[in-house]
Amino acid sequence: MVTMADVARSAGVSVATVSHVLNDTRPVLPHTRQAVLDAVEELGYTPNTLARSLVTSRTRSIGLAVSAISNPYFTEILQGVEARALEHGYSLLIADPHDDPGHERKVVQLLHERRVDGMIVAPSADPRALLAYLGRHRVPAVLLDRVVDVPEGEAAPRLDQICAESTEPTARLVGHLAGLGHRRIGLVAGRPGLSTTRERITGYRHGLAAAGLPFDERLLVHGDSEAAGGERAASDLLSLAVPPTALVTANNAMTIGALRALRDRGLSVPGDLALCCFDDFAWADLFSPRLTAVAQPSRDLGAQAVRLLLERLAAPDRPARTVRLPCTFVHRTSCGCAERSGRPGHSPGPSGKAHAKAHERTLP
Ligand code: HPA
Repeated sequence: MVTMADVARSAGVSVATVSHVLNDTRPVLPHTRQAVLDAVEELGYTPNTLARSLVTSRTRSIGLAVSAISNPYFTEILQGVEARALEHGYSLLIADPHDDPGHERKVVQLLHERRVDGMIVAPSADPRALLAYLGRHRVPAVLLDRVVDVPEGEAAPRLDQICAESTEPTARLVGHLAGLGHRRIGLVAGRPGLSTTRERITGYRHGLAAAGLPFDERLLVHGDSEAAGGERAASDLLSLAVPPTALVTANNAMTIGALRALRDRGLSVPGDLALCCFDDFAWADLFSPRLTAVAQPSRDLGAQAVRLLLERLAAPDRPARTVRLPCTFVHRTSCGCAERSGRPGHSPGPSGKAHAKAHERTLP
């Protein structure tokens, strides 16, 4: 096993200098630095991070606990987290709490036992045990996607939070459908207890109120933020004596479920029912019709969660912050609007679709 002392001997420098080069802990003259890196390469030296951790009490690792990791929204968040962490020399330990409060508490403890330097957690609908654990053990942590009320007091964790705007973008979808003449707009809402679900419901109500439409509780049905629940909720809405003429689905998975419910009934979009959804998909423009959606800045959410965590590690006592990132309204055709050219005042060419391009606008 090649040691740091071997590298130092080969480069003609002290072990301390090798350590400073490898850990970026002090500036080292360029030619000395290069000599160390050449020796590392030549001898095939790999640092023993466990040994280093014993000295520094830091593991340069981040624990990431997010449920529904296979959902493209969270997968993109993960990509953002991983890329930014790597830039700063951090590696990731990943756990899936399955949106279950007991399991969440357990995986957070496991990550903590691995001595991650900090954690990024998308909390479940009942995060009390999670918050108690983070507070009791003073774990530097950032809460992601779901905003929670952090209890105050001595043992309260100092938690930064990051999420996407949910209220305004949902109101925008409802307002868009109302502007197209819809008076019965249904909402397939997410899993109860999550802030994203609450905020999207608030946005739905704001959108209705702004359009002068009454809130009818029969038109709001909860899914479970997954495809099966979305299918059930959409199916319930379509079974109403007077069903909605338009639907807003509150996330990508439930959109898929709603599309299944529509297909099973032989209903077409937007002919029989207009559809607008929260969450854009990589393949949303391949659906027929193409989906009008709100796109979340998922990669950026992940990257900024890492930034907040590194800031917290550098300044453990700074006040907690909550950051909300804006979303983008992606106007396509499932809402019932015709294909557009993408250029104001420019009408589509003879085939219409050949020149069609998504028209995007950032929400305030
Ligand atoms: N929160 C926010 N957006 C989402 C989620 C979620 O849990 N799942 C899919 N899109």
